[in-house]
Amino acid sequence: MYRLLRAALFLLPAEASHDLALKAMSLVERLGLTGLIAARTRGLAREITVMGIRFPHRVGLAAGLDKNADHADALQGLGFAWLELGTLTPRPQPGNPKPRMFRLAQQHAIINRLGFNNKGIDYALTKLSTRRRKGIVGINIGKNADTPLEEANEDYLIGLRKAYPVADYIAINISSPNTPGLRSLQYGEELDSLLGALMAERRTLAAALGRVVPIAVKLAPDMTIEELTLCCGKLVAHGVEGVIATNTTFDRERVAESEHAAETGGLSGAPLTEKACATLSHIKALVGDRMAIIGVGGIMTGGDAQARIEAGADLVQVYSGFIYAGPPLISDCLRATA
Ligand SMILES: Cc1cc2nc3c(=O)[nH]c(=O)nc-3n(C[C@H](O)[C@H](O)[C@H](O)COP(=O)(O)O)c2cc1C
Repeated sequence: MYRLLRAALFLLPAEASHDLALKAMSLVERLGLTGLIAARTRGLAREITVMGIRFPHRVGLAAGLDKNADHADALQGLGFAWLELGTLTPRPQPGNPKPRMFRLAQQHAIINRLGFNNKGIDYALTKLSTRRRKGIVGINIGKNADTPLEEANEDYLIGLRKAYPVADYIAINISSPNTPGLRSLQYGEELDSLLGALMAERRTLAAALGRVVPIAVKLAPDMTIEELTLCCGKLVAHGVEGVIATNTTFDRERVAESEHAAETGGLSGAPLTEKACATLSHIKALVGDRMAIIGVGGIMTGGDAQARIEAGADLVQVYSGFIYAGPPLISDCLRATA
């Protein structure tokens, strides 16, 4: 059924089909018919506690598919263990001009340069407050494109304060390739300064609200081993609970023959599988059991999910694989990682 639907959706430009599919999913949910398209998880799900959160199983939705929490009920109903929503910025912003999303169908890949198009964190939190299904939610935060990099900390602090009462965990996105300069926050003094500010604010929020909400930092797959070593050292030193590996890649080696290879943006899907898994293995070697690891990037099959767990991931997330395979990918991953 998903294959037929996909064939029809793939006739449209990538972003238009993405929006239409999400709207259709929400309609199906409102009609009470989600069961018809949901992944089969019964009998396969094994609970697991990571970052102090009890997940019904290990397979979640990666950030970016539902940036504004407009479709949280529908997506939750499909069988994901949790949703990571966002990236959300303090103020709404339109993102980059269209076209800004490209489907590389032969390579089972996507290139996007959306640029954090989102309706702002206040909108998403209001949406979340009205959802009917109460599943686990990670809120992924970032900075506005027009906030100078030197003032980035303040944008992340606004996101942290606003998301804190609602989120089960908060993801700090410093690895999108589509906001100029953002990835520099993964390094050196900028990283120290951001983590210092976030963890101090988290202490204040935890004391005020009586609840410690874990923080996970999302990293790029394009860092050298030296860079990863320095970065992970700082994450551990600051007491961050989790790392999400990885975001999309600049690397075009595996898609050189595609007509879209030269498009600016981040590449995701099958060509990212190996690189994301290798990055995760390095991170595991660096952090051991001191941080939880959420594996993401090119998980297109149950086998990919299993390999990511074997490489050290506690949980996995899917995005491009879900676009190409639909809800059955969730059950495939569940079967492989139970
Ligand atoms: C169209 C698109 C939009 C994305 N938007 C975000 C985002 O807003 N924030 C974020 O942290 N990651 C975003 N991502 C990255 C994904 O969460 C994920 O890390 C990446 O795509 C690799 O996983 P995949 O190969 O399963 O897609 C986006 C990915 C795609 C394809």
